[in-house]
Amino acid sequence: MSSENLHAPRERLSESTLNLHFAIVSLMEELDAIDWYRQRADDTEEETLKELLLHNMREEMEHASMLLEWIRRHDSDFERFLKTYLFTEGSILQAEKAATAEGLGGGQPARSRGGAEKGFTIGSLRDA
Ligand SMILES: [Fe+2]
Repeated sequence: MSSENLHAPRERLSESTLNLHFAIVSLMEELDAIDWYRQRADDTEEETLKELLLHNMREEMEHASMLLEWIRRHDSDFERFLKTYLFTEGSILQAEKAATAEGLGGGQPARSRGGAEKGFTIGSLRDA
């Protein structure tokens, strides 16, 4: 499988990192497609075309969801955050505070299932 978006020499990346990269890039493409279809649906006055574009948009949502599930199954850090935030009610920021207090949201990341030791993190996106 090829990709033009690698940021390190391919031979230095683990198989797990490469597979996660392929899934992440594919998820980005699906999310772009969702955005494009929704905008085009908004922009057309032709009702049949609008419905077709919205139908296609929903199919891209299915594809994105399938990819996200694959990522969850192959990256335990991602899985941990998805478990913390998805399908919750109430304040997302309060969920983060609760997770951080429980030691789930910060500090040392849990070890990934698939050799994330060759990966990197950008760091906390929280305010200092
Ligand atoms: Fe798709």
